[in-house]
Amino acid sequence: MRHSVQVMATTRIEQVPTGRNFIDGQWVAARSGRVFENRNPADRDDLIGYFQESSAEDAEDAIAAASRAFASWRLVPAPRRAELLFAAAQRIAERKDAFAREMTREMGKVLEETRGDVQEAIDMTFFIAGEGRRLYGQTVPSELRDKFAMSVRQPLGVCSVITPWNFPMAIPSWKIIPALVCGNTVVFKPATLTPLSAANFVRVLEEVGIPRGVVNLVTGGAEVGTVLSSHEAVKVISFTGSTTVGRVVNERAAPGFKKVHLEMGGKNVVMIMDDAQLELAVEGCLWGGFGTTGQRCTAASRVVVHERVYDEFLREFARRAAELRVGNGLDAGVQVGPSVSEAQLETVMDYVKIGRQEGATLVTGGHRLDSGSHAKGWFHEPTIFGDVDPQMRIAREEIFGPVVSVMRCRSLEEAIAIGNDVPYGLSASIYTRDINRAFAAMRDLYTGIFYVNAPTIGAEVHLPFGGTKATGNGHREAGTAALDVFSEWKSIYVDFSGRLQRAQIDTQEL
Ligand code: UN1
Repeated sequence: MRHSVQVMATTRIEQVPTGRNFIDGQWVAARSGRVFENRNPADRDDLIGYFQESSAEDAEDAIAAASRAFASWRLVPAPRRAELLFAAAQRIAERKDAFAREMTREMGKVLEETRGDVQEAIDMTFFIAGEGRRLYGQTVPSELRDKFAMSVRQPLGVCSVITPWNFPMAIPSWKIIPALVCGNTVVFKPATLTPLSAANFVRVLEEVGIPRGVVNLVTGGAEVGTVLSSHEAVKVISFTGSTTVGRVVNERAAPGFKKVHLEMGGKNVVMIMDDAQLELAVEGCLWGGFGTTGQRCTAASRVVVHERVYDEFLREFARRAAELRVGNGLDAGVQVGPSVSEAQLETVMDYVKIGRQEGATLVTGGHRLDSGSHAKGWFHEPTIFGDVDPQMRIAREEIFGPVVSVMRCRSLEEAIAIGNDVPYGLSASIYTRDINRAFAAMRDLYTGIFYVNAPTIGAEVHLPFGGTKATGNGHREAGTAALDVFSEWKSIYVDFSGRLQRAQIDTQEL
């Protein structure tokens, strides 16, 4: 779940940097002249800059530029397109540290993790650029003589890319780079909470010589999103965000038969069996539950523990969670940053209240941190609920914050049943030393990602990423699966017999 942000200012103050839209190769102001603020969630006095509060017209300008650019970009040989992308990956690598610092400042996750985010963008860009020399299709024998049969991938046209704030450079790279290597053009709307990281990424693409109009950046809120998901010239929409907004995007796109890739919420489970290495499971749940302040769609927000090891696990998990250092992600030694915004922190506090009212046991945490070094940010204690019933809201709804719900089970079968009994299906994991249990769980959890003896987070770029049920709509990004979102198959037959040959009819001749 990612909440949209409200525009807090409509006036421009000259001393503070102002980020612009990038449309048709130019950095331009929104037509309305309106801007919004970007503030550091660890220190609300730290104003990072103003960014363009774009309206429908700006989105339409960007789509028009992307439509024009498609005419020539689609004809650039894919290996040549890929050379530009390799150069982009190299440049991002050179600036990794600066980009990571700016990212921590704008969305709060700790520096080690923002470095990981930028690294994920580098890895994805190198990996997908390699596809410029593959983009494999099929050649197959024809059923007729003197006839050739093959399939090729073709670009679709303008792609709308709508991304969240929790992976401000990685997720845009998952979408924009495969769109480009396939020969499409892009209009990119990043979350309003992370426009700076988006602009950093787009600037690199500009610097390496991606032609004008091929990549366009439009910052702003729902008005931009509406145009990007409904405009006639848009052929593909790739969206990562909440299930609620994903549904709206899907509905808007449906009348025009657009190709829609949706990657939405999660309520991921870690199952801990009685033969698990408990210390390893505790480490995994700390990282999976509280890494990125719990603000990953892959976060390990549910833990189902075998009753024989439940007490021991919970005691140790709570002890270690209480020791986590919460603070400004730029400070050395800090392990958990703030929630990304006041609205997100309020969601966390609401769910803590809900969990208490539902009768779960608050084992550790449960409070906002707002004094001393925490006074100016949206901080919350790492929080664990025990004795959670699988039907409680804190066990079923995505919280997107540092709150983990721990449940008991009596068997592997019960753990799997609880694991599957949520509306989402992104990621799941099991801790066990029994290979039979591990394989059974791997087969039976209805999710897009599964881990053995590791938490639910940490997917790598070269395998498909995505989920089932209310998490996704059947597409995957990352890996070569991303190419399926951003290309369309064309099957081609070449008859070089010089006579009419009828398929399925003239096939008797040996
Ligand atoms: C997300 O939470 O939106 O697998 C993406 C992971 C990361 C990506 C998370 N590589 O946890």
